[in-house]
Amino acid sequence: MSKNATLEINGQKYEFPLVTGTENEVAIDIKDLRAVTGGVTTIDPGYKNTGSCESSITFLDGEKGILRYRGYSIEELAEKADFLEVAYLLIFGELPTQEELDKFKKDICDQSIVDEDIRKIVDAFPKSAHPMGVISSLTSALTSFNPSSVNVDSKEDMYKAIVKILGKFPVLVAWTLRKKQGLPLDYGDCSLGYVENTYKMMFKQPNKDYTTNEVVINALNKLLILHADHEQNCSTSTVRIVGSSHAGLFASLSAGISALWGPLHGGANQAVLEMLEAIKEDGGDTKKYMAKAKDKDDPFRLMGFGHRVYKNFDPRAKIIKKAADDVLEQLGVEDPILDIAKGLEKEALNDSYFVDRKLYPNVDFYSGIIYRAMGIPTDMFTVMFALGRLPGWIAQWREMRLRKEPIGRPRQLYVGETQRAFKPMSKR
Ligand code: ACO
Repeated sequence: MSKNATLEINGQKYEFPLVTGTENEVAIDIKDLRAVTGGVTTIDPGYKNTGSCESSITFLDGEKGILRYRGYSIEELAEKADFLEVAYLLIFGELPTQEELDKFKKDICDQSIVDEDIRKIVDAFPKSAHPMGVISSLTSALTSFNPSSVNVDSKEDMYKAIVKILGKFPVLVAWTLRKKQGLPLDYGDCSLGYVENTYKMMFKQPNKDYTTNEVVINALNKLLILHADHEQNCSTSTVRIVGSSHAGLFASLSAGISALWGPLHGGANQAVLEMLEAIKEDGGDTKKYMAKAKDKDDPFRLMGFGHRVYKNFDPRAKIIKKAADDVLEQLGVEDPILDIAKGLEKEALNDSYFVDRKLYPNVDFYSGIIYRAMGIPTDMFTVMFALGRLPGWIAQWREMRLRKEPIGRPRQLYVGETQRAFKPMSKR
C-alpha cells in the first residue's frame, strides 16, 4: 500500500503520511494540514471519521463486532476475569499477578474512606435529585478534599490518585443510592471483593445481616467488565479533552460522568427501561412502537438500538442478553418487560428499516433488565454504567497524560455574519 495520501486543492497537490495501527487500520495523518495548505481545515461533525489519538487500550471493529481490552477478547474477560483484574489490565496494560492484584485491592481499600464533610454535601441534595447529577457533583467535590492535580511524572503520585478514586467512587455510588432511599450512609467491608463490597454498601439494611447472592454478584461483575472501556466514545473523549488542559483526574472524571448521562450515550439504559415500561402500560403493542420509530415525523427512537460504531452487532449485547436470561432464571424472576424486549428485538431484526440502517440492539438494550432484577432503581442504571466505565476513563486519562498529548482544541468552519458595524438600539 502507498505510504502517503494525496490531497489536491485548487490544482495544488499535498502529501500526507498514512499510519497503520497494530490491527492494520489505516489513518491519514493530517497534523500538518493547516500549516502546509495555508489554513485549510477539515469538517467532520460528530467526529465520525476523525481519530483523536493513538491508543493502546481498547480495540474494536464495528463491522466484525470485535471488542478487546489490551488484546484480550471481551467474551473471555467477561467469562474468566474479575472486574478489578480488568481494571488493572486496562489501566496498567497487563493482567496483574496475584501479588499485584492483592496490593491493588489493599491500596484501593486503604483509600476508600471519604471525608466526613462529604456527608454534608450528600445531605444537601434533595431526594428527588437525579443520581447522575449527584455522583458527578460528588466526584467533582472530591477535588476539594484531595489534591486536584496529579504530578503525572511521578509514578507514585499517579498510582495514588488512581487507587483513591477507585476506592472512593463506590462509596459515593452507594451513598447516592442510600440518600435517595433514606438509608444511613455506611461503609462496606474490605474483606469482600470490590464488586461485592460495592453491592453490600449499596443495599445493606441497617436492621438485617448482609447475605451474599452469588448470582447477582457474578452478573454485576460481568456487567461492569462489559462496560469498562469502549475506546473514544463521547464520555471518554470528554475525559481526555478535559484532562488535556491538565485539569485533575477527578475533575476530568466528573466531566465524563456528565457526558455519559445523556440518553444517546449511557443514559440509554434508563431510557430503554422507561420505554419498555411505557410500551407495557400501553398494552404491549410492539408493532405500534416499531412504526413510531420508523416514522420520520415522530421523534421517538427505539432506545437501545443502533450504535455509532457497531454496524452488525454489539458483542456486549450478545453476552448481556444471555446473562439476562440466566439471572432472571436463577433469581426466579418473571419479567413481562423481557418479553417485550425480545419481541421488539425480533421485529427489528426482520425489519428492513433497521436492517438497512444496520441498527442492532446495543449494550444497553438488556442491561436495564438485569439491573432491575437485582433491585437497582431505574435512575441508578447510568450510575452503574459509570462505575463500570471508571477504569476505562482512568486508563484513557493516564494514557493521554503519559503521552503528553497537546490540549484538545478542534477547529471550526465559521458560517456566521461577516464583519458589520454596530447597530444602535434605535435602529434594531
Ligand atoms: N431508532 C430509530 N431509528 C434510528 C435509531 C433508533 N434507535 N438509531 C438510528 N436511527 C436511524 C436514524 O434516524 C438515521 O436514519 P436516516 O438515515 O433515515 O436519517 C439512521 O438510523 C442513522 O442514525 P444516526 O443517528 O445518524 O446514527 P449515529 O451513529 O449518529 O447514532 C446512536 C448512533 C446515537 C446510538 C443512535 O443509533 C441512537 O440514537 N440510538 C438510540 C439511543 C441509544 O440506544 N444509545 C446508546 C448507544 S450505546 C452507548 O452509548 C453505551
